[in-house]
Order: sequence, then structure tokens, then C-alpha cells
Amino acid sequence: MILTIVNTKGGVGKSTLAVNIAIARALQGKKVWLVDGDKQGSSQTAILIRSEADVQPGIACSHYPDGPVLRTQVLQQKDNYDDVIIECGGRDSTAMRAALTLTDYALVPFVPGSFEAWAMEDVVKMLQEARSIREPFPAFSILNRADVNPRSKDNQEMVAAMSEYADEIPVLDHLLHMRKAFANAAGSGRSVVELKLKPHEKPAKEELEKLISIVFKY
Ligand SMILES: Nc1ncnc2c1ncn2[C@@H]1O[C@H](COP(=O)(O)OP(=O)(O)OP(=O)(O)O)[C@@H](O)[C@H]1O
Ligand SMILES: [Mg+2]
Repeated sequence: MILTIVNTKGGVGKSTLAVNIAIARALQGKKVWLVDGDKQGSSQTAILIRSEADVQPGIACSHYPDGPVLRTQVLQQKDNYDDVIIECGGRDSTAMRAALTLTDYALVPFVPGSFEAWAMEDVVKMLQEARSIREPFPAFSILNRADVNPRSKDNQEMVAAMSEYADEIPVLDHLLHMRKAFANAAGSGRSVVELKLKPHEKPAKEELEKLISIVFKY
């Protein structure tokens, strides 16, 4: 399956999720290829850190910020893998458009904040564009870096705001809370599922595993 983690907005957790999911799937025995379509190449850097530390399993990773190159390479190589996980973003990114022409599933992370909803309009436009030239494919958004305070209404309000786009991108009935373990893991080229987590950090692993089971069962 080709999974694309996408949002034109920066800082929503695209790289964090791409790295965490790719490694977790590899640990489930899947042949995984992580494709970094973002100019910054953060996912690729994370995987480089992993390979320099010689952490197993190694993850195949390529950096294709150019849309036509990404499209050609993914078409050529996808059948060698169980999972191709593409990270892309940026307003005028050709890589993002290319990924959306190929993907089986688009996952759109968003974070609490009043400006997030605006960025979603760009993503919706890109999805509509892709869907007009190919067979339909599922796209779901997910609240990331959700407030851990159970009394806070921020999460509910954000999910409600995103429901405006539910026709194109329904919000997943699952979320990932703000947990340092996600950030620490991805930054060092690891997934939370392979780290020795302190008891209070364990929910990070459960949240990631549940997300993976939702996405790959689709
Ligand atoms: N669930 C989470 N809990 C805690 N920190 C998180 C979580 N998700 C992401 N972060 C942190 O938020 C910041 C942004 O995440 P990330 O770099 O993955 O976003 P991005 O969408 O790839 O951004 P960019 O567009 O700049 O590449 C990072 O510092 C990351 O460590
Ligand atoms: Mg990134």
C-alpha cells in the first residue's frame, strides 16, 4: 500500500508520523520504503541517524523533492515493497501533487490552532485535483499534538472545525496526543514502538499502534 502523509502546513507532524509509522511497520515484518518528498529532508535525516547508529531493522529511504522524479521512481519501485510511505508538504510542492496521483491512502495530520483550518482548504483543493484525474482514494485527517489535559475543550473544538471538510477529508476517530516520546523517537530515527518507554509515556505506543491498525486495515 502507498500511504501519503501530507499537509501544505508545516509543523503538523508529517515527518514525526512518517518515521514512526515506517519503522513500526518494518518491525511488523513489512518491507518498507520511506519516501521523503519534502525539500527539507527531515525524514531522510532521521533515517540516516538510525543507520549511523546501526539500529535494526534498517529502513530503505529516498529523498525526492521533485514531483516528476518522485512519481517515476515510486512507479518503478513500489512493487518491491509492502508499504511505501511518502511524506510531503509545501504549498506549491510538485512532490505533493505527484504523491497524490499515486497514493492508496492520504493521511493529513493537523494540530490545534486557529489557523490550521485555513491550510486545510489548500489540501482539499489538491485532493480534488488529484481525484479529478484518477480513481477515488481515501483521505482522512488526524488531530496530532492533541492537548493531554482531559478538561481542555481545544481538541473537541479543533475536530469540530475540521469537520467542515468532512466531505473531502473526514476526521479519523482517533488522535495522537502531545507526547515527547513521539518527538524524541522520530528525532533519533526511531519509532516509539521500539523504545523503552517510561510508564507515563506508554500511551504513545498504543496511540501509534492504533493509528497503524486503522490505516492499514482500510
Ligand atoms: N504527537 C507529538 N507530540 C509531541 N511532539 C510532536 C508530536 N508530533 C510532532 N511533534 C513535534 O512537532 C514538531 C513538528 O513536527 P514535524 O517536524 O514532524 O512536522 P512536519 O509537518 O514534518 O513539519 P515540516 O513541514 O516543518 O517538515 C517537531 O518538533 C516534532 O518533534
Ligand atoms: Mg517534515
